[in-house]
Amino acid sequence: MLKIVFLPSNATVEYEPGSLPYQGEGKAGSVLDVALSYGVELRHACAGLCACTTCHVVVEAGDEHLSPMEKDEEDRIYRLPNYTLHSRLACRAVVRGDVVVHVPCPGEDRAEPSFSPGPQAG
Ligand code: FES
Repeated sequence: MLKIVFLPSNATVEYEPGSLPYQGEGKAGSVLDVALSYGVELRHACAGLCACTTCHVVVEAGDEHLSPMEKDEEDRIYRLPNYTLHSRLACRAVVRGDVVVHVPCPGEDRAEPSFSPGPQAG
């Protein structure tokens, strides 16, 4: 049995490896694929094509149980403003053992524009 816990919702799914029908988005058996199979909310604007980073998750436990990061994922993920050493794209990371992932809330992983006020009139 494989087990994935999605935080902060604490949605927990357990399944036999290879038992899930492919949902057609992201890599088969990826964190995104599993989330879609179980109705766990996980944004995926490019439908799992590794083109958007909206499926960003932070692995809280079990990094070693995910497929190694490939070049396409690497190229995308380093652009995230809140990239961490445990960041992964859910559509690319194939689950091979138990993992706990944190799914950032919408807006949590977007860069806030920084404005510096211009000279004050007066
Ligand atoms: S869904 Fe777009 S990069 Fe994963």
